[in-house]
Amino acid sequence: MIYDSILGTIGRTPIVKLQRLAPAGITLYAKCEFFNPASSVKDRLAIAIIEDAERTGALKPGQTVVEATSGNTGIALAMVCAAKGYPFVATMVETFSVERRKIMRMLGAKVILTPAAERGTGMVRKAEELAAKNGWFLANQFRNPANPAYHRSTTGPEILSDFVGRRLDYFVTGWGTGGTMTGVGEMLKLARPEVKIAVAEPENASLLAGKPFAPHKIQGWTPDFVPAVLNRTVADLLLPVSDAEAIAAARALAAQEGLFCGISSGGAIAAALKVAREAPQGSVLLAMMTDTGERYLSTALFEGIADGSDIEP
Ligand SMILES: Cc1ncc(COP(=O)(O)O)c(C=O)c1O
Repeated sequence: MIYDSILGTIGRTPIVKLQRLAPAGITLYAKCEFFNPASSVKDRLAIAIIEDAERTGALKPGQTVVEATSGNTGIALAMVCAAKGYPFVATMVETFSVERRKIMRMLGAKVILTPAAERGTGMVRKAEELAAKNGWFLANQFRNPANPAYHRSTTGPEILSDFVGRRLDYFVTGWGTGGTMTGVGEMLKLARPEVKIAVAEPENASLLAGKPFAPHKIQGWTPDFVPAVLNRTVADLLLPVSDAEAIAAARALAAQEGLFCGISSGGAIAAALKVAREAPQGSVLLAMMTDTGERYLSTALFEGIADGSDIEP
């Protein structure tokens, strides 16, 4: 396969059947977004927003792009901007993993850290200030309708075409911007109304369930506000997932299935396993694997993973 640029390799990600983690009588599939070129689902959002802004004229050749990001969006935008020749600046809460900042810098971006106490809202405010002050293009992932629109036109149809003639009962996802949940959820509701949309949230930040926000370790999921692009009416079920459950499931995915994913992918599998416990025998579930485990080397996901020699068996 020969492509004109790295950007041609975004999307069309594989769906893989889990071999060991699903309970008896349940089929559990994983859509592997870590196959995207910058290793997360956010590559879709980045190309969607940049190419939409090019089409509308909101982004001019050589103009700087700025965005508030928990990391994956920044890495994806840095990759797309590098490939297309736009400077890129990310604002990011200081608590997100250090490897994310370094990857962005490798991809030519500048990274501005915002205080942990100001949470997601603080990094969004900083990006808005920088855009207004410098005349930069604000990608605005939490408000930009190009974000869910791209999932409506790519992720959703990919799932529909892969499941033509096959049973599918539940689509399981978390939400960060809500782009995936909204775009895929809306398409599945239109084309396969029998599919239930199961939406996972951190147990101590279940905003859609009406609970208040508290900090959690599932990076990429649930900021301290409900974004404008999120369509909450697509959710048929809300599932709280704890940090420990997400981390344990991510470790099990790696060690027992060979799927090396981040904490939020573990969260989606933990939520899917909760659905599976109540679902009728024969049910088929599909969960979103949003990014690679390599993005979490300095986080709780790797806590206790040794780096010395193991004892010979
Ligand atoms: C690791 C990870 N998982 C899940 C999500 C959520 O995706 P969406 O923004 O489409 O709701 C994100 C988004 O930041 C993410 O980085």
